[in-house]
Amino acid sequence: MNKLFRLKSIPMLLEEAKDESQNSLKRTLGPTALIMLGIGAIIGAGLFSITGMAAGQYAGPSITISFIIAGVACAFAGLCYAEFASMIPIAGSAYTYSFATMGELFAWIIGWDLVLEYAVGAATVAISWSNYLVKFLGNFGIVLPSALLHSPFEGGILNLPAVLVVVLCSVILSRGIKGSANATSAIVVLKLIVVFAFIILGWQYMNPANHEPYFIPNTTGVVGEFGWSGIIRAAAIVFFAYVGFDAVSTAAQETVNPGKNMPIGILGSLVICTILYILFAHVMTGLANYKEFNVEGDKLAPVATAISHTPYLWLNQFIILAILAGYVSVIIVMLLGQSRVFFSMSKDGLIPKIFSDVHPKYQTPFKSNMLFMLFVSLFAAFVPADVVGEMTSIGTLFAFILVCIGILILRYKMPEAPRGFKTPFVPVVPILGILSCLGMMVFLPLDTWIRLIVWLAIGMVIYFYYGQKNSKLN
Ligand code: ALA
Repeated sequence: MNKLFRLKSIPMLLEEAKDESQNSLKRTLGPTALIMLGIGAIIGAGLFSITGMAAGQYAGPSITISFIIAGVACAFAGLCYAEFASMIPIAGSAYTYSFATMGELFAWIIGWDLVLEYAVGAATVAISWSNYLVKFLGNFGIVLPSALLHSPFEGGILNLPAVLVVVLCSVILSRGIKGSANATSAIVVLKLIVVFAFIILGWQYMNPANHEPYFIPNTTGVVGEFGWSGIIRAAAIVFFAYVGFDAVSTAAQETVNPGKNMPIGILGSLVICTILYILFAHVMTGLANYKEFNVEGDKLAPVATAISHTPYLWLNQFIILAILAGYVSVIIVMLLGQSRVFFSMSKDGLIPKIFSDVHPKYQTPFKSNMLFMLFVSLFAAFVPADVVGEMTSIGTLFAFILVCIGILILRYKMPEAPRGFKTPFVPVVPILGILSCLGMMVFLPLDTWIRLIVWLAIGMVIYFYYGQKNSKLN
């Protein structure tokens, strides 16, 4: 029983962070690189695909309020992440934080749960990438066979482009974090140009009639169809658009002066993206009526629908291209987060050593990168986008809740321990973080809850048969 709640002490963790021996990661990232890494992970399928869908089906122009709600919930969690990351700058992120506060069992649960956020999240973006690729090629008259674009659940054989993009990203990642950070920085700039261009050029063509009324009342009486319940459901769905800011914390062990730079990276990227999202969504629902985003076939490309109301039609192809490139950076950072969490778990003995073997030349956990390439490809090839998307959201919300609980425990148990950054207004902020994330989880479908429970149950079996026996704390 004691084994379940044994802690990895903070001095022990800090000692590991200092370990510059062979099997350790290189410290190369500064504040700008971290913010870029964050934005690289954050802006993606959530903004370019899911926004229109959620506006069309659940919230109308008030989707901006949904973005504010989801953004505020993320900010509460982000403040807690920042304190942890500044205090325990180790690659494992939420996994490591819970090991230091709640013990081995909770650490295991969260490490296992993060696979839903990072690996399954990467698969979700890869599937959306495949959709945009089809649009892009379609504009040149190139049509790919449908069987190679859809999972067996959607009448196809496999989603081949989704697999190819996962392979590409895994290869880039396994060749070094500095290279990955450079690749993502270039892409992030392109992605930001598209977002700014859309907001600035689109602003003058907004039709005020599309924002009348801004708040669409719920007339059907069904929970989640417009009105306030619709706005909250939409918040739970566009939450996906924020997933990834916490991935910054997984790069803690590769960060210069993490005590200062981690909070800047996490909160900086979150704030920038929240502002851009609200403006972007406002312009999007101003250009086209929200009902236009709910038309079968166009659902996944709301940006194109909105642009068709401006004279800038040439923008369309350019934007799709930028989106395709942009998704690559999202997938890279998600895969990066995944390999780093398993790196820490493996160092702790909870999973096999293969996940922490570092490549002698590239200094990356390349074997782990290759194994996850396989795992993520399977999801990308054979599972529909909405299933993996909702699994990502529920897994991430669950992780955020545990991180907020961790801060409460940490403040109680170790009030004096040195921290580079302190979450303000404890216990109010962590408690609001827990409540807001839980509130959004409640709005996700029952199937998604069942998948979460099954996934955690599989994890429990592995923990009791492998993790607990092989833990370094034995
Ligand atoms: N936030 C990331 C996206 O929207 C996962 O694609």
